[in-house]
Amino acid sequence: MHQHTPSSDSLPTPHTVSGPGPGQRWSTWTSVAKGQRGPAPWPDWVVTADAALDTELGVLKTGKEADVFLIERAVPDEPGRGSLLAAKRYRRRENRQFHRAATYTEGRRSRRTRDQRAVEDRRSAWGRSVAATQWADAEFSALCELWGAGAPVPYPVQIDGTELLMEFVGRRTDDGAYEAAPRLARQRPGPAILADWFDQLYRAMSVLARLGWAHGDLSPYNVLVDTAGASGNADGGRLVIIDLPQVVDLVANPFGADLLHRDCRNVCTWFTSRGLEVDADELFADVFAQAW
Ligand SMILES: Nc1ncnc2c1ncn2[C@@H]1O[C@H](COP(=O)(O)OP(=O)(O)OP(=O)(O)O)[C@@H](O)[C@H]1O
Ligand SMILES: [Mg+2]
Repeated sequence: MHQHTPSSDSLPTPHTVSGPGPGQRWSTWTSVAKGQRGPAPWPDWVVTADAALDTELGVLKTGKEADVFLIERAVPDEPGRGSLLAAKRYRRRENRQFHRAATYTEGRRSRRTRDQRAVEDRRSAWGRSVAATQWADAEFSALCELWGAGAPVPYPVQIDGTELLMEFVGRRTDDGAYEAAPRLARQRPGPAILADWFDQLYRAMSVLARLGWAHGDLSPYNVLVDTAGASGNADGGRLVIIDLPQVVDLVANPFGADLLHRDCRNVCTWFTSRGLEVDADELFADVFAQAW
């Protein structure tokens, strides 16, 4: 075969490509398979350009089974068009602890029986990394379904192995720093906002129940208060539910009702401690009935 060698004057003009610097990588958006990206239509803030870089801006929180980092995804030449992402990275390590992991996965059918066997093999290092991947997958799928159903959850941008990228819930402070939305746990709102928040949580739990699900680890620590779009002090903002790897199937899981009941107790205990008398059994009966 004849090989064509371009003459020097037909070579493209060399230009400098600014690749990833320290703390950066190429955006992983195009490198993941189609099914690993969030539900379409993609929100307009989602950066899909090949030329985008992911810049690590810091740790949001280190947790029991995962660490959450703040990432900016942006095209270097297009300032102002970047977006902020929360990267939840599941730990592969042995000390990762999922309390009641077996309770949560009961009744969850796995398509990957070989992987499943590996998970069950506690001695297998590969098993541990598959387990981390499965928790990340489980949370990504739950977020996709919930987002589609209109539940207040962060938009799931993509999943890549043990890393889940989602919408960052938070804001930019006046001095240019980024601040994650605070957890519900620390808040002390007045009566009107308190009642509104209970209503928001009730509606969110109802969306889950109508999909046949309970959160399974719902507490004031897994609810963020997003005030980014709030109008004035009388507006308590929007509650966003996070941390959903262990979503429980109310029908298939024999502990489903118990776990939903516990979610209701956690929620009602907090609201009652803040002065809104709400009854966990009533909430449970109401939400549970919506699953059928
Ligand atoms: N989308 C997000 N936007 C902003 N902050 C987030 C987001 N997701 C998680 N965080 C922050 O990271 C923390 C931990 O997230 P998450 O609860 O999902 O992980 P976890 O490993 O279960 O942590 P923990 O053990 O503390 O419950 C949250 O409390 C919140 O502060
Ligand atoms: Mg949590």
